[in-house]
Amino acid sequence: MLEIRNLHVNVEGKEILGGINLTIPNGEVHVLFGPNGSGKTTLMMTIIGYPEYKVTKGQILFDGNNISELDITERAKLGIGVSQQRPPTIKGVKLRQILDFFTKLNPSKKDYLNAMVKKFDISKYLDRDINSGFSGGEIKRLELFQILITLPKFLMLDEPDSGVDPEQLVIIGDIVNECLKIKNNTKLKIERKTGLIITHSGNILNYVHTDKAHLLLDGVIHCSGNPGLMLDQIKKAGYNYCISCQQLCYDHMQEGN
Ligand SMILES: Nc1ncnc2c1ncn2[C@@H]1O[C@H](COP(=O)(O)OP(=O)(O)OP(=O)(O)O)[C@@H](O)[C@H]1O
Ligand SMILES: [Mg+2]
Repeated sequence: MLEIRNLHVNVEGKEILGGINLTIPNGEVHVLFGPNGSGKTTLMMTIIGYPEYKVTKGQILFDGNNISELDITERAKLGIGVSQQRPPTIKGVKLRQILDFFTKLNPSKKDYLNAMVKKFDISKYLDRDINSGFSGGEIKRLELFQILITLPKFLMLDEPDSGVDPEQLVIIGDIVNECLKIKNNTKLKIERKTGLIITHSGNILNYVHTDKAHLLLDGVIHCSGNPGLMLDQIKKAGYNYCISCQQLCYDHMQEGN
């Protein structure tokens, strides 16, 4: 579904991403780890197409098509959705207006979306300005709910679990899993939508299954592997251990030859 080839990105004239290669096949959910300032948000913002993130080299392929030249609206219309790390306050726009807009576009989803408002206890937020005066945890929950409403087929979630208390985290996990659900699953086959989740704490991984993890350091993916193992390794030995770990594997292979 998503294939990123040798992606270089500049922000304000400075190279932030220096050659990202990343493939997320259809139906897989990957997780992105990396220290503060390593370029995780930059990667997501570039994939969705924020204009201040300039692609200087490389390609972003979505369903086999190069989307690097498309604007943000065109990318959203292809089914790419993003929940931002720090969603903005939007005075004068209510969640109810967004909900009404999407139910008009998708009348067959009206009952489902109303059921989701009830399930995730959203009604009390519907008539407030988006994110205005919301607590940190409420902002995360409402941001994810907007993703749920827009029904994207590829989801990017930037730190959905940061600043979220343990009870709210359960709800956040439920909303993410609902967003990833494909409705026509049979009993025998579990299919999900495709996604990319950024997390520091890894707390969301206790609620959402992820297939593969990647470690971003200084704008380059240095290591990919099992999400749980990688998180344990980061917690135990730090991000930089990943590079030395790779060097050890490389040396070991050289010795074997
Ligand atoms: N609009 C911008 N103007 C200037 N520098 C920017 C801009 N956006 C990002 N950067 C810089 O790019 C680097 C990567 O930032 P980014 O937000 O992608 O990091 P991150 O990995 O998401 O970090 P965190 O874990 O703290 O969220 C940082 O040094 C940041 O200051
Ligand atoms: Mg970030």
